[in-house]
Amino acid sequence: MRRLTVPAIRERKQDGVTQQPIVMLTAYTARQAQLLDAHCDMLLVGDSLGQVIYGLPSTIPVTLEMMANHAAAVVRGSYHSVVVVDMPFGSYEGSPQDAFDSAAFLLKESGAAAVKLEGGEAMAETVEFLVKRGIPVMGHVGLTPQAVNVLGGYKARGRDDAEADKIVGDAKALCAAGAFAIVVEGVVEPIAIAATKAVDCPTIGIGASAQCDGQVLVTEDMLGMFERVPRFVKRYENIAETIAGAAETYASEVRARTFPGEEQTYQPK
Ligand code: KIV
Ligand code: NA
Repeated sequence: MRRLTVPAIRERKQDGVTQQPIVMLTAYTARQAQLLDAHCDMLLVGDSLGQVIYGLPSTIPVTLEMMANHAAAVVRGSYHSVVVVDMPFGSYEGSPQDAFDSAAFLLKESGAAAVKLEGGEAMAETVEFLVKRGIPVMGHVGLTPQAVNVLGGYKARGRDDAEADKIVGDAKALCAAGAFAIVVEGVVEPIAIAATKAVDCPTIGIGASAQCDGQVLVTEDMLGMFERVPRFVKRYENIAETIAGAAETYASEVRARTFPGEEQTYQPK
């Protein structure tokens, strides 16, 4: 299986219709990427790794180095999916040139194919600057977690007309600037559908609508790694219980001196 390409993802949507919805999950490690790769079209090295891997309170403190290291691991662990890396807060907003330097660093360090950045119309000039210089860009509109301090929380967006118009306008501006796809996060369904209909490039929904051109979830969320998850997450497994259960059994066997057993113990010939 040859690795999918950015143009192949973009071309999934033709004349406003996506025949085959785009499947995307986050991945932060090589082994995780290996397990997810064959089932996905794209793997996102999301800056959500700040909370998920590093226990940070938000994505704001995430650095370029953290993103580059995890992205390199995910590229090493995959051979099929397009690997997209999030640009962390502070690495791209200042100017298109800053954004280019940061994006080039991420792609050179990791071997990933594309970057993702948050923000709509305000980032359109930057998106165009990067795309014209050889860096494919995925947009991200609606609930943009790096703007948590401006938005004041992680509530769904698009509930009033002004917000709804802005989300659709942001998606249009990004697509016109050359974004190959756009994540639509935490947006009321009619507005997610309106944004999807308004743009030629595929929309990837999270907390949005099944009518988006694709879907993404944080893998740890959908595996049931956390007790508390947003309403839009469907838990396909309860991995937290599995891990805690295994640790409990291991601990009791160590304390009872029943592990290691005969099978796990070397003896002289
Ligand atoms: O960082 C992340 O995981 C993301 C997705 C949730 C879209 O940006
Ligand atoms: Na992100």
